[in-house]
Amino acid sequence: MAVPIVIDCDPGHDDALAIMLAAGDPGIDLLAVTTVAGNQTLEKTTFNALRVCTVAGITGVPVAAGCAQPLVEPLEVAEDVHGVSGIDGPRFPVPTVAAVPEHAVELLRRVLIGHPEPVTLVPTAPLTNIALLLTRYPEVAGRIKEIVLMGGSTERGNRTPAAEFNIHVDPEAADIVFRSGVPVTMCGLNVTHQALATPGVLARFEALDSELGWICVELLRYFAGTYRRLFGFSAPPVHDPVAVARVIDPRIVDCVDAHVAVELHGRHTRGATVVDLHGRLGLPANARVAVGLRTDLFWDRMVAAVAALGAARD
Ligand code: RIB
Ligand code: CA
Repeated sequence: MAVPIVIDCDPGHDDALAIMLAAGDPGIDLLAVTTVAGNQTLEKTTFNALRVCTVAGITGVPVAAGCAQPLVEPLEVAEDVHGVSGIDGPRFPVPTVAAVPEHAVELLRRVLIGHPEPVTLVPTAPLTNIALLLTRYPEVAGRIKEIVLMGGSTERGNRTPAAEFNIHVDPEAADIVFRSGVPVTMCGLNVTHQALATPGVLARFEALDSELGWICVELLRYFAGTYRRLFGFSAPPVHDPVAVARVIDPRIVDCVDAHVAVELHGRHTRGATVVDLHGRLGLPANARVAVGLRTDLFWDRMVAAVAALGAARD
């Protein structure tokens, strides 16, 4: 039975792949895509979501723009990682789909209230939209099956030595989500850094020989250059689809229950996710935390989803 989800994203090279995995895998019923400022401005992340839906042949899935700024601090984008457009590298067609006029939080509320069963939210970006939803409409919490997010880390960060980008951009929003009482699964860098798009993975996308397959190759080649230049990685970690893969088949992403706190005040550590893996604080677990990835199963699903979307389009 396909799991109904909404992706809340900031495309973003890896967000683009997360959208494709969600749309192309039979285990997911993608109800909507919402966008937020993060990797780039809201205008650009929304335009990019529309470009991805267009090139992937995703129709009938509403796309709504959300928050243009984090809750407290000014927006910081990741132009050094994703480029001026937010998904530099491929040449995308002009979008043939448009965003709906309602705000992402209103679309999320409408979908949650209107869907016959609880819906899984998959944020792959700063958590501003999700925090605003839970704050403005607390009554919808009961309609959320779980929040499976890409963000944080049980170890070091990537935007700062302590903080992962999605959490660092809006720590107050992340704090609201982790303290909301809604079931949260955190797929952090400690696991997503295992989802490396190696030359062997790129060869699998090349072998599809479809327009969408080549778009993925070009996305990953750009991302590879970024991660080699900034972090010395031999292959780029594709973060966001890991959260979608956890929803598709929990065996792909191994998790443990733990208490997660978001650092809001540390001079050097603001935005860090402090994960108490050994229960040292004696606090109840408030999240499932990803600690392992079956990379073979992950890439099988990712490539199969792109193949399915590409076949439907070509
Ligand atoms: O730290 C990785 C996360 O930040 C990913 O979601 C990537 O798209 C960026 O938003
Ligand atoms: Ca993202």
